[in-house]
Amino acid sequence: MVKSKNGFKDNFLWGGATAANQCEGAWNKDGKGISTADIQPYTKGINRKSLNFNHVTKQALDNFMNNNELFYPKRNGVHFYDRYEEYFDKLEDMGFSCFRMSIAWTRIFPNGDEKEPNKKGLQHYRNVLTSLKKRGITPIVTMSHYEMPINLVTKYGGWENRKLINLFLNYCTVLLDNFHDLVKYWIVINQINLIQYESFGSLGILYDKNNNYLEQQFQGIHHQFVAFGLVKSYAQEHYPDNKIGTMLADCILQPYSCRPEDVELAFKRNRMQYFFGDVQILGNYPDYALQYFKDNNIQLKTLPEDEKIIHDNLADFLCISYYYSYCVDASKNGIDPADTTKNPYLKENEWGWAINPSGLYVTMSNYWDRYHIPMMIGENGFGFEDKLIDGKVHDQYRIDYLKKHIKALKQAVIDGADIFAYCSWAPFDIVSAGTAEMSKRYGYVYVDYDDFGNGSGKLYNKDSFYWYKKVISSNGEEL
Ligand code: BG6
Repeated sequence: MVKSKNGFKDNFLWGGATAANQCEGAWNKDGKGISTADIQPYTKGINRKSLNFNHVTKQALDNFMNNNELFYPKRNGVHFYDRYEEYFDKLEDMGFSCFRMSIAWTRIFPNGDEKEPNKKGLQHYRNVLTSLKKRGITPIVTMSHYEMPINLVTKYGGWENRKLINLFLNYCTVLLDNFHDLVKYWIVINQINLIQYESFGSLGILYDKNNNYLEQQFQGIHHQFVAFGLVKSYAQEHYPDNKIGTMLADCILQPYSCRPEDVELAFKRNRMQYFFGDVQILGNYPDYALQYFKDNNIQLKTLPEDEKIIHDNLADFLCISYYYSYCVDASKNGIDPADTTKNPYLKENEWGWAINPSGLYVTMSNYWDRYHIPMMIGENGFGFEDKLIDGKVHDQYRIDYLKKHIKALKQAVIDGADIFAYCSWAPFDIVSAGTAEMSKRYGYVYVDYDDFGNGSGKLYNKDSFYWYKKVISSNGEEL
């Protein structure tokens, strides 16, 4: 019996994560089509604790698509599409060994249902990936990160429609055929489980109170599971060196108290979060999920071959995003995953995200104990309205947050979890996914644009830039 790990492995990948729709901009350049992200508006003075772009109705969609008064921050992002070399200079300076990015579906298939891919889009990503290669930075590429072609929503009804499986598969096989030589790690769908907060961005299903929305969502998820299996199968057959991963937003809750009712509710709620990993890593729909479907009047339409596709094509690795943690109190909360209670022992940021580093240790250890497959942190970070003063940002709060979380991750590694990468969100400031603000900043690099895209666009190293550089060069020893 030899216990070998005292910290991060020698070839551990250190980096940061982004999504195309939040940083690229250039929303209609080089043949790109319109995505769901391109129509997410920002309005001044929004409520930072509520998500206005989640359960989108037909009426809301029409307004987002046709209202000339609205401002859409993701159309500009931080101009990463044209300025990626400048951003990569910063990452290289910090010593990044990996970079998680996504490819915009709409740059490759502008409407999602064309026969041939857009060559300019493919060329662009070849340039981006080649630049990373030259810099010795390993790309970790998400195939779909909250930005499906809007045409797939309006014409097909989003992922509820089984046709999405082949349309998505077609897109993913084009990515694998074109970039398998430059990309080893693929994450097929960003945070496949987060349908309580990012349903529209991920599934493209419109909300209608007269429908069984939960059933529609799980139908969409089923199609995503099948699509994942087919992507994995294609990769395994053609590019066996490529690794195909799945990704979960950590939503594991603590019981509010040791009252048996709280403990049982937390257990049941958590199990329906593990459900997504159980299907994609263990290979079957578990009985508890089938019972949940029955209890919630959910009847999925499946084909006989789906079971085998899911069963035979398991994820090679598990990517986790971790930001916050909440509790459930059985006297107040029910089974809905968005229904939570604050943990009175934790402090929150302005967006109501409660900071709990110990939760990261517990959660990564739990996933490891349950699945025993390689894991990575695909997102972890602290959103804050940083202030640029005399060209400097003193973001000690961010350093404190990240330091504690990396320490917790290290503890999970020491206790046995096989973790190969850590990507903080996001290495340079980009537009927020939830509220579309620029002023919710996460970066080590301050990007001088405001919520309406105005500003010099200059890049400034924050204090955390120098801190993270040391973390990387010491392989997580100097925190
Ligand atoms: C994750 C998403 O859920 O949270 C990212 O994958 C997102 O796209 C991140 O940016 C942080 O959320 P927000 O709303 O602060 O940008």
